[in-house]
Amino acid sequence: MKHPDTLDFEPDFMRAAAFFRSQKNYAVSPLRRLQGPGAYSVWAKDETDRMGLGAFKALGAPYAVARLVGDAWFEKTGEILTPARLTDADVREVAKTQTFVCASAGNHGLGVAAGARLVGAKSRIHLARTVPVGFADRLRAQGAEVVRSGDVYDDSVAAAIVDADQSGATLLADGTWPGYTEIPKWVMEGYCVIAEELRVAFEANGQWPTHVYLQAGVGGLAAAMAHMIRLNWSVQPKLIVVEPEAAACLKASHEAGVATRSDGPDSNMGRLDCKEPSIVAWQALERCNVTYETLTEEDGMAAAEAVTKLGIATTPSGAAGFGALCKQLPQVAAGSGFLPLVIISEGPA
Ligand SMILES: Cc1ncc(COP(=O)(O)O)c(C=O)c1O
Repeated sequence: MKHPDTLDFEPDFMRAAAFFRSQKNYAVSPLRRLQGPGAYSVWAKDETDRMGLGAFKALGAPYAVARLVGDAWFEKTGEILTPARLTDADVREVAKTQTFVCASAGNHGLGVAAGARLVGAKSRIHLARTVPVGFADRLRAQGAEVVRSGDVYDDSVAAAIVDADQSGATLLADGTWPGYTEIPKWVMEGYCVIAEELRVAFEANGQWPTHVYLQAGVGGLAAAMAHMIRLNWSVQPKLIVVEPEAAACLKASHEAGVATRSDGPDSNMGRLDCKEPSIVAWQALERCNVTYETLTEEDGMAAAEAVTKLGIATTPSGAAGFGALCKQLPQVAAGSGFLPLVIISEGPA
Protein backbone atom coordinates (compact mmCIF):
# COMPACT_ATOMS: atom_id res chain seq x y z
CA MET A 1 0.00 0.00 0.00
CA LYS A 2 1.40 3.43 -0.91
CA HIS A 3 1.19 5.99 1.85
CA PRO A 4 1.12 9.74 1.41
CA ASP A 5 4.27 11.67 2.25
CA THR A 6 3.44 14.85 4.13
CA LEU A 7 4.81 16.71 7.12
CA ASP A 8 1.44 16.84 8.88
CA PHE A 9 1.18 15.02 12.17
CA GLU A 10 -2.41 14.12 12.97
CA PRO A 11 -2.11 10.96 15.02
CA ASP A 12 -5.00 8.60 15.64
CA PHE A 13 -3.97 8.17 19.25
CA MET A 14 -7.17 6.34 20.17
CA ARG A 15 -6.20 3.64 17.71
CA ALA A 16 -2.78 3.32 19.33
CA ALA A 17 -4.33 3.26 22.80
CA ALA A 18 -6.81 0.56 21.74
CA PHE A 19 -3.98 -1.49 20.28
CA PHE A 20 -1.96 -1.39 23.49
CA ARG A 21 -4.96 -2.12 25.69
CA SER A 22 -5.31 -5.36 23.73
CA GLN A 23 -1.71 -6.38 24.49
CA LYS A 24 -1.01 -8.66 27.47
CA ASN A 25 2.18 -6.87 28.50
CA TYR A 26 0.70 -3.36 28.42
CA ALA A 27 0.11 -1.39 31.60
CA VAL A 28 -0.05 2.34 32.30
CA SER A 29 3.47 3.31 33.35
CA PRO A 30 3.94 4.70 36.87
CA LEU A 31 3.64 8.42 37.55
CA ARG A 32 5.88 9.11 40.51
CA ARG A 33 6.28 12.15 42.73
CA LEU A 34 9.96 12.87 43.41
CA GLN A 35 11.51 15.31 45.85
CA GLY A 36 13.42 17.22 43.22
CA PRO A 37 16.08 19.92 43.21
CA GLY A 38 15.63 22.80 45.66
CA ALA A 39 13.11 20.59 47.55
CA TYR A 40 10.56 21.13 44.78
CA SER A 41 8.21 18.33 44.02
CA VAL A 42 8.55 16.84 40.53
CA TRP A 43 6.28 14.54 38.56
CA ALA A 44 8.26 11.75 36.92
CA LYS A 45 6.67 9.52 34.31
CA ASP A 46 8.63 6.33 34.79
CA GLU A 47 9.16 4.58 31.44
CA THR A 48 12.02 2.44 32.69
CA ASP A 49 10.04 -0.78 32.57
CA ARG A 50 7.63 -0.11 29.72
CA MET A 51 6.30 -3.44 28.49
CA GLY A 52 9.35 -5.19 29.82
CA LEU A 53 11.59 -3.47 27.23
CA GLY A 54 13.14 -0.86 29.51
CA ALA A 55 12.13 2.30 27.61
CA PHE A 56 9.17 4.25 26.20
CA LYS A 57 10.21 3.11 22.73
CA ALA A 58 8.23 -0.07 23.40
CA LEU A 59 5.18 2.03 22.49
CA GLY A 60 6.48 3.01 19.04
CA ALA A 61 7.83 0.33 16.76
CA PRO A 62 5.68 -2.62 17.94
CA TYR A 63 2.60 -0.59 17.08
CA ALA A 64 4.04 0.34 13.66
CA VAL A 65 4.85 -3.33 13.02
CA ALA A 66 1.25 -4.22 13.84
CA ARG A 67 -0.01 -1.59 11.40
CA LEU A 68 2.32 -2.83 8.68
CA VAL A 69 1.23 -6.41 9.20
CA GLY A 70 -2.36 -5.13 9.11
CA ASP A 71 -1.66 -3.54 5.72
CA ALA A 72 -0.15 -6.74 4.35
CA TRP A 73 -3.08 -8.75 5.68
CA PHE A 74 -5.58 -6.35 4.14
CA GLU A 75 -3.83 -6.51 0.78
CA LYS A 76 -3.95 -10.28 0.84
CA THR A 77 -7.43 -10.86 2.22
CA GLY A 78 -9.37 -7.58 2.09
CA GLU A 79 -9.99 -8.04 5.82
CA ILE A 80 -9.24 -5.36 8.40
CA LEU A 81 -6.95 -6.89 10.99
CA THR A 82 -8.07 -6.30 14.57
CA PRO A 83 -5.46 -6.23 17.37
CA ALA A 84 -6.99 -9.41 18.80
CA ARG A 85 -6.26 -11.30 15.56
CA LEU A 86 -2.64 -10.10 15.25
CA THR A 87 -0.99 -13.25 16.50
CA ASP A 88 -3.38 -15.80 15.00
CA ALA A 89 -1.76 -18.57 12.97
CA ASP A 90 -3.09 -17.42 9.57
CA VAL A 91 -1.85 -13.87 10.19
CA ARG A 92 1.55 -15.16 11.32
CA GLU A 93 1.84 -17.03 8.01
CA VAL A 94 1.72 -13.64 6.27
CA ALA A 95 3.89 -11.85 8.83
CA LYS A 96 6.63 -14.42 8.69
CA THR A 97 7.41 -13.39 5.10
CA GLN A 98 8.20 -9.86 6.35
CA THR A 99 11.52 -8.48 7.57
CA PHE A 100 11.75 -5.15 9.38
CA VAL A 101 15.02 -3.22 9.20
CA CYS A 102 16.13 -0.17 11.13
CA ALA A 103 19.05 1.72 12.57
CA SER A 104 19.02 2.24 16.29
CA ALA A 105 20.87 3.71 19.21
CA GLY A 106 19.35 0.81 21.15
CA ASN A 107 15.76 1.28 22.21
CA HIS A 108 14.04 1.72 18.86
CA GLY A 109 15.70 -1.46 17.66
CA LEU A 110 14.37 -3.30 20.70
CA GLY A 111 10.89 -2.12 19.80
CA VAL A 112 11.27 -3.28 16.20
CA ALA A 113 12.66 -6.64 17.32
CA ALA A 114 9.94 -7.20 19.93
CA GLY A 115 7.20 -6.14 17.50
CA ALA A 116 8.54 -8.45 14.79
CA ARG A 117 8.91 -11.31 17.22
CA LEU A 118 5.33 -10.93 18.46
CA VAL A 119 3.91 -11.46 14.96
CA GLY A 120 6.48 -14.02 13.81
CA ALA A 121 8.32 -11.65 11.42
CA LYS A 122 12.09 -11.12 11.18
CA SER A 123 14.08 -8.05 12.18
CA ARG A 124 17.54 -6.76 11.33
CA ILE A 125 18.96 -3.91 13.37
CA HIS A 126 21.93 -1.75 12.37
CA LEU A 127 23.98 -0.44 15.29
CA ALA A 128 26.85 2.02 15.15
CA ARG A 129 30.08 1.14 16.92
CA THR A 130 29.16 3.52 19.76
CA VAL A 131 26.05 1.55 20.81
CA PRO A 132 26.82 -0.44 24.00
CA VAL A 133 27.26 -4.17 23.62
CA GLY A 134 24.47 -4.73 26.14
CA PHE A 135 21.95 -3.47 23.59
CA ALA A 136 23.28 -5.89 20.95
CA ASP A 137 22.79 -8.75 23.41
CA ARG A 138 19.28 -7.62 24.32
CA LEU A 139 18.41 -7.30 20.63
CA ARG A 140 19.57 -10.82 19.89
CA ALA A 141 17.56 -12.06 22.86
CA GLN A 142 14.51 -10.54 21.13
CA GLY A 143 15.32 -12.61 18.03
CA ALA A 144 16.88 -9.80 15.97
CA GLU A 145 19.80 -10.08 13.62
CA VAL A 146 22.30 -7.42 14.67
CA VAL A 147 24.63 -5.73 12.17
CA ARG A 148 27.37 -3.34 13.28
CA SER A 149 27.25 -0.51 10.74
CA GLY A 150 29.65 2.40 10.88
CA ASP A 151 31.07 4.63 13.57
CA VAL A 152 28.13 6.86 14.42
CA TYR A 153 24.34 6.77 14.38
CA ASP A 154 24.13 8.46 10.95
CA ASP A 155 26.22 5.67 9.43
CA SER A 156 23.81 3.07 10.77
CA VAL A 157 20.83 5.02 9.39
CA ALA A 158 22.45 5.06 5.93
CA ALA A 159 23.23 1.35 6.17
CA ALA A 160 19.65 0.49 7.11
CA ILE A 161 18.33 2.43 4.11
CA VAL A 162 20.67 0.59 1.74
CA ASP A 163 19.80 -2.74 3.38
CA ALA A 164 16.05 -2.21 2.91
CA ASP A 165 16.56 -1.04 -0.70
CA GLN A 166 18.65 -4.04 -1.61
CA SER A 167 16.88 -6.75 0.37
CA GLY A 168 13.27 -5.66 -0.11
CA ALA A 169 12.80 -5.57 3.67
CA THR A 170 10.61 -2.88 5.20
CA LEU A 171 12.49 0.10 6.62
CA LEU A 172 10.97 0.94 9.99
CA ALA A 173 12.81 4.09 11.08
CA ASP A 174 11.90 6.44 13.91
CA GLY A 175 13.29 9.46 12.05
CA THR A 176 11.78 11.08 8.96
CA TRP A 177 13.35 12.73 5.92
CA PRO A 178 12.08 13.97 2.55
CA GLY A 179 10.30 11.06 0.88
CA TYR A 180 10.08 8.93 4.02
CA THR A 181 7.58 10.00 6.65
CA GLU A 182 4.58 7.73 6.96
CA ILE A 183 5.85 4.77 8.96
CA PRO A 184 7.69 6.90 11.57
CA LYS A 185 4.43 8.81 12.09
CA TRP A 186 2.92 5.54 13.29
CA VAL A 187 5.87 5.13 15.64
CA MET A 188 5.10 8.60 17.00
CA GLU A 189 1.38 7.77 17.14
CA GLY A 190 2.32 5.00 19.57
CA TYR A 191 4.26 7.42 21.79
CA CYS A 192 1.08 9.54 22.07
CA VAL A 193 -0.20 6.94 24.51
CA ILE A 194 2.18 8.37 27.15
CA ALA A 195 0.59 11.81 26.94
CA GLU A 196 -2.88 10.30 27.07
CA GLU A 197 -2.02 8.25 30.17
CA LEU A 198 -0.75 11.44 31.78
CA ARG A 199 -3.83 13.45 30.80
CA VAL A 200 -6.07 10.86 32.44
CA ALA A 201 -3.94 10.93 35.62
CA PHE A 202 -3.93 14.73 35.85
CA GLU A 203 -7.66 14.98 35.13
CA ALA A 204 -8.15 12.65 38.07
CA ASN A 205 -5.75 14.27 40.56
CA GLY A 206 -6.06 17.89 39.39
CA GLN A 207 -2.32 18.45 39.86
CA TRP A 208 -1.34 19.53 36.38
CA PRO A 209 2.32 20.26 35.69
CA THR A 210 3.41 23.81 34.98
CA HIS A 211 6.47 22.79 32.94
CA VAL A 212 7.09 19.64 30.88
CA TYR A 213 10.65 18.69 29.95
CA LEU A 214 10.97 16.51 26.84
CA GLN A 215 14.30 15.05 25.88
CA ALA A 216 14.90 14.59 22.17
CA GLY A 217 17.03 12.61 19.78
CA VAL A 218 15.39 12.90 16.36
CA GLY A 219 12.40 14.50 18.13
CA GLY A 220 9.71 11.84 17.80
CA LEU A 221 8.94 11.59 21.50
CA ALA A 222 9.03 15.34 22.11
CA ALA A 223 6.81 16.06 19.11
CA ALA A 224 4.26 13.37 19.97
CA MET A 225 4.06 14.62 23.56
CA ALA A 226 3.92 18.29 22.60
CA HIS A 227 1.24 17.66 20.00
CA MET A 228 -0.94 15.75 22.43
CA ILE A 229 -0.46 18.22 25.27
CA ARG A 230 -1.50 21.13 23.08
CA LEU A 231 -4.38 19.08 21.63
CA ASN A 232 -6.21 17.90 24.71
CA TRP A 233 -4.70 18.81 28.08
CA SER A 234 -7.09 21.10 29.88
CA VAL A 235 -4.31 22.95 31.72
CA GLN A 236 -1.46 24.04 29.49
CA PRO A 237 2.16 23.84 30.70
CA LYS A 238 5.31 25.35 29.27
CA LEU A 239 7.08 22.84 27.04
CA ILE A 240 10.86 22.55 26.96
CA VAL A 241 12.67 20.35 24.44
CA VAL A 242 15.99 19.08 25.79
CA GLU A 243 18.99 18.05 23.68
CA PRO A 244 22.69 17.39 24.27
CA GLU A 245 24.86 20.35 23.28
CA ALA A 246 26.65 17.84 21.06
CA ALA A 247 23.50 17.12 19.02
CA ALA A 248 21.09 20.06 19.26
CA CYS A 249 19.58 19.60 15.80
CA LEU A 250 16.00 20.52 16.74
CA LYS A 251 17.10 23.76 18.39
CA ALA A 252 19.28 24.53 15.38
CA SER A 253 16.35 23.79 13.06
CA HIS A 254 14.07 26.06 15.06
CA GLU A 255 16.58 28.89 14.94
CA ALA A 256 17.30 28.47 11.24
CA GLY A 257 13.65 28.01 10.26
CA VAL A 258 14.66 24.99 8.22
CA ALA A 259 15.61 21.41 9.14
CA THR A 260 19.26 21.73 10.09
CA ARG A 261 22.00 19.29 10.84
CA SER A 262 23.96 19.86 14.03
CA ASP A 263 27.43 18.39 14.14
CA GLY A 264 29.35 17.77 17.32
CA PRO A 265 31.35 15.18 19.22
CA ASP A 266 29.81 11.88 20.38
CA SER A 267 27.55 12.39 23.39
CA ASN A 268 27.24 10.22 26.48
CA MET A 269 23.50 10.81 26.09
CA GLY A 270 23.68 8.08 23.46
CA ARG A 271 20.00 7.81 22.58
CA LEU A 272 19.75 11.58 22.20
CA ASP A 273 22.88 11.80 20.06
CA CYS A 274 21.12 12.38 16.73
CA LYS A 275 22.63 15.03 14.50
CA GLU A 276 19.72 15.15 12.01
CA PRO A 277 16.18 16.00 13.12
CA SER A 278 13.07 14.14 12.06
CA ILE A 279 11.44 16.65 9.70
CA VAL A 280 7.93 15.62 10.80
CA ALA A 281 8.88 16.00 14.46
CA TRP A 282 10.55 19.34 13.87
CA GLN A 283 7.50 20.70 12.02
CA ALA A 284 5.15 19.44 14.74
CA LEU A 285 7.28 21.11 17.42
CA GLU A 286 7.18 24.38 15.48
CA ARG A 287 3.38 24.33 15.86
CA CYS A 288 3.47 23.66 19.62
CA ASN A 289 5.09 26.75 21.14
CA VAL A 290 8.07 24.98 22.70
CA THR A 291 11.37 26.36 23.96
CA TYR A 292 14.74 24.61 23.89
CA GLU A 293 17.40 23.71 26.44
CA THR A 294 20.74 21.99 25.89
CA LEU A 295 22.83 19.92 28.26
CA THR A 296 26.56 19.44 28.58
CA GLU A 297 27.91 15.94 29.05
CA GLU A 298 28.44 16.74 32.74
CA ASP A 299 24.82 17.90 33.09
CA GLY A 300 23.67 14.58 31.66
CA MET A 301 25.80 12.50 34.00
CA ALA A 302 24.80 14.54 37.06
CA ALA A 303 21.12 14.15 36.15
CA ALA A 304 21.41 10.38 35.82
CA GLU A 305 23.10 10.19 39.20
CA ALA A 306 20.49 12.41 40.84
CA VAL A 307 17.48 10.57 39.44
CA THR A 308 18.99 7.20 40.29
CA LYS A 309 19.52 8.44 43.88
CA LEU A 310 15.88 9.51 43.97
CA GLY A 311 14.91 5.92 43.29
CA ILE A 312 14.59 5.51 39.52
CA ALA A 313 17.71 3.89 38.05
CA THR A 314 18.40 5.51 34.69
CA THR A 315 21.01 6.88 32.28
CA PRO A 316 21.98 10.38 31.09
CA SER A 317 19.54 9.96 28.16
CA GLY A 318 16.76 8.85 30.50
CA ALA A 319 17.38 11.68 32.96
CA ALA A 320 17.99 14.50 30.47
CA GLY A 321 14.66 16.19 31.16
CA PHE A 322 15.50 16.27 34.85
CA GLY A 323 18.92 17.70 33.97
CA ALA A 324 17.31 20.56 32.09
CA LEU A 325 14.96 21.19 34.98
CA CYS A 326 17.94 21.46 37.36
CA LYS A 327 19.63 23.86 34.98
CA GLN A 328 16.58 26.09 34.61
CA LEU A 329 15.42 25.91 38.23
CA PRO A 330 16.64 29.34 39.35
CA GLN A 331 14.61 31.02 36.58
CA VAL A 332 11.54 28.84 36.32
CA ALA A 333 10.76 28.04 39.95
CA ALA A 334 10.17 31.66 40.93
CA GLY A 335 6.40 31.56 40.36
CA SER A 336 4.08 29.93 42.87
CA GLY A 337 2.67 26.50 42.11
CA PHE A 338 5.76 25.38 40.23
CA LEU A 339 5.29 21.68 39.43
CA PRO A 340 7.45 20.27 36.65
CA LEU A 341 7.02 16.95 34.84
CA VAL A 342 9.91 14.93 33.47
CA ILE A 343 9.92 11.65 31.59
CA ILE A 344 12.44 9.10 32.74
CA SER A 345 12.65 7.56 29.31
CA GLU A 346 14.83 4.48 29.91
CA GLY A 347 16.24 2.29 32.61
CA PRO A 348 19.93 1.46 32.98
CA ALA A 349 21.45 -0.20 29.91
C1 LIG B 1 15.77 6.63 26.29
C2 LIG B 1 15.46 7.57 25.19
N1 LIG B 1 15.07 8.80 25.50
C3 LIG B 1 14.76 9.70 24.54
C4 LIG B 1 14.88 9.36 23.20
C5 LIG B 1 14.56 10.39 22.16
O1 LIG B 1 13.51 10.01 21.31
P1 LIG B 1 13.43 10.60 19.85
O2 LIG B 1 14.57 10.03 19.07
O3 LIG B 1 12.10 10.15 19.37
O4 LIG B 1 13.56 12.07 19.98
C6 LIG B 1 15.29 8.08 22.84
C7 LIG B 1 15.47 7.70 21.45
O5 LIG B 1 15.99 6.66 21.12
C8 LIG B 1 15.56 7.14 23.86
O6 LIG B 1 15.92 5.89 23.58
